[in-house]
Amino acid sequence: MNLTQQTLAGFKEAYGYEPSGVWSAPGRANLIGEHTDYNNGFVLPFGIDRRTYVALATREDKICRVTSSFSSEVVEIELRDDRPTGLDWALYPLGVAWVMRESQTTGFDVFIDSDVPIGAGLSSSAAVECSMALALNDVWEAGKSPIELALIGQRAENEVVGAPTGIMDQTASMLARSDGAVLIDCKTMETTHIPLGLSEQDLVVAVIDTQVSHRHSDGGYRSRRESCEKGAEIMGVESLRELEVADLPRAKEAMDDVTFRRVRHIVTENQRVLQTVSALADARLDELGELLLASHASMRDDFEISIPELDLAVATAMEAGAIGSRMTGGGFGGAAIAIINSAKLSQLETQVEAAFEESGFGAPRVFAVIPSQGARKEA
Ligand code: GLA
Repeated sequence: MNLTQQTLAGFKEAYGYEPSGVWSAPGRANLIGEHTDYNNGFVLPFGIDRRTYVALATREDKICRVTSSFSSEVVEIELRDDRPTGLDWALYPLGVAWVMRESQTTGFDVFIDSDVPIGAGLSSSAAVECSMALALNDVWEAGKSPIELALIGQRAENEVVGAPTGIMDQTASMLARSDGAVLIDCKTMETTHIPLGLSEQDLVVAVIDTQVSHRHSDGGYRSRRESCEKGAEIMGVESLRELEVADLPRAKEAMDDVTFRRVRHIVTENQRVLQTVSALADARLDELGELLLASHASMRDDFEISIPELDLAVATAMEAGAIGSRMTGGGFGGAAIAIINSAKLSQLETQVEAAFEESGFGAPRVFAVIPSQGARKEA
């Protein structure tokens, strides 16, 4: 049984009747461009072949019910102006419904299933938000564009869940394509399709999930965001996007060391995203590898969002023959990615497992991800 069928069956078991459809959206891996999104900068994520599925039927009343394969509890609310609180995992799908409440025409029953690992930095939450937003857009005939649906998902995350995250994950989950990554200019929200050309060269993107879980509603993410705002204010710009590498000496003079290093990460990372796009266009793999490693070093040393498990994952991936590797996502846990010849994937897995065991870290998980299409109706 595939996940669409499994989600249909899960709905039927939970509610005792057939849903009207199934919608899905992928998690994402970010090739490069970390914490640049909320600084109006550039990011280069792609959708992965791990998805969240939403089976939904409308109701004649205005009651909104959700349940899922990971919790048998059925959570039920009606959408009012007060924002929903305290619903645990159900805040993600119901938060989306709440943000869309002005479009509400009916109540609904929803069942959710997913194979996106939770807390791995692969945007399991964006996958829930985007599959739910697309489903409601269809059944409520809300007429929103993919970018508008991404913004709705982000509002659910910011206003309801309380995580001050940017727009990268939801945009990737809505707009991803199966043959490449999506370059997002987070200032203009212009998106450009970037072919990766990895499979032609027998390369895969491996994910090394440290299994160290993280939450962006905790303090680390927020404090990085605040440092960036402070840096922009000191430099007299609306966002760090406006700064160039040539502005860094002036920034160094103008602010404390911690704020400066946060700023330096963002400014250099924006540049690395654009350099990555041009390296990919000419298949300059050595340069691609160097850019990924420089990005990781910048997150480790300047932005200070890596953890020893992620550093070890990256170092071990390089020893196993990866052309480049870096932590992906918000940090403080989660996963690293490595670009590696497909024939070396199992060797990578063996070496990473051994290295983690030797360091006394919990067992990691290693798997390849394939660029996959954004949110869509499945059935
Ligand atoms: C999380 C957030 C994104 C982005 C990344 C870091 O995934 O949801 O908006 O800020 O962290 O690049």
